[in-house]
Amino acid sequence: MIKKGIILAGGLGTRMSPITKAVNKQLLPLYDKPLIYYPLSILMLAGIRNILIIVNKGQLNQFRKILPETNNLGIKVSYKEQQRPKGLPDAFILGEKFIGNDNIALILGDNFFYGQSLTENLKRNTYLKKGATIFLHQVKNSSLYGVAVLNKKNKILRIVEKPKKNISNLAITGLYFFDNNAIKYSKNLKPSKRNELEITDLLKIYNKKKLLKASFIGRGGTWLDAGNIQDYYNASNYVSAIENRQGLKIACIEEIALKKGWIKKSQIIESIKNYGNCDYSSYLKSLI
Ligand code: TTP
Repeated sequence: MIKKGIILAGGLGTRMSPITKAVNKQLLPLYDKPLIYYPLSILMLAGIRNILIIVNKGQLNQFRKILPETNNLGIKVSYKEQQRPKGLPDAFILGEKFIGNDNIALILGDNFFYGQSLTENLKRNTYLKKGATIFLHQVKNSSLYGVAVLNKKNKILRIVEKPKKNISNLAITGLYFFDNNAIKYSKNLKPSKRNELEITDLLKIYNKKKLLKASFIGRGGTWLDAGNIQDYYNASNYVSAIENRQGLKIACIEEIALKKGWIKKSQIIESIKNYGNCDYSSYLKSLI
């Protein structure tokens, strides 16, 4: 059972420059809350309460203001600084001590997931014992992403990074479940031409051993990479449309914690005091 998760919230954010010159992408608002609330809520929905957040060197205090280690969410948050963006598998090298002997979930700090059967799907996959699981989602333009080529039985044949030809429409999203070997394998990876450790290289190791499994965020689900400006606004508009229609919030981390029974109403009251008079607080009030 996976009980620990890492959120990768560093990176240069070049694609969103100049907006990201002074502010880390994950601290920017996605509609009515910081971007990092969304991946955090995904880990929480999967039942993961022990979370390491990897941030850029020098940005720790900004993140702590939004998600302090001592929080009212019933989760354990810890931080680790990354000296420079060395690639996604660096999460397992930096997080070695945090991970210990356990299996681990990894989510990218700029990824947005939403959908009906998502929570069930996540929970089912936390029972991973051996190997790794990737979550695939159909996209029109797959040349922007790492993709998986499957056979008719949904077994993974190949993993290809940003394919020039349209060999598959199934993009590999920024959510991964790994067994503990991810640490060892990541340490043995060689940096690519862009001088980063590549997650696709790590996935290829698992696939070669026939230990890579695909799970699907079906067409009723949504995945957006909010790390590019167009999808950042698409995600923001999406959240706005759903929230204003339903009156329910997406990725309200206090609501998730309350529903899971991790926190009491008194902690929601503490959060309201902390946020001050805002729309988000009014929503929290409506929960209690
Ligand atoms: P990317 O989107 O690949 O990188 P980036 O955020 O630096 O953006 P750009 O490509 O526009 O320069 O990273 C995916 C996520 O992982 C993003 O949330 C940042 C984070 N990240 C790290 O925390 N450390 C890293 O070494 C890398 C490569 C990414």
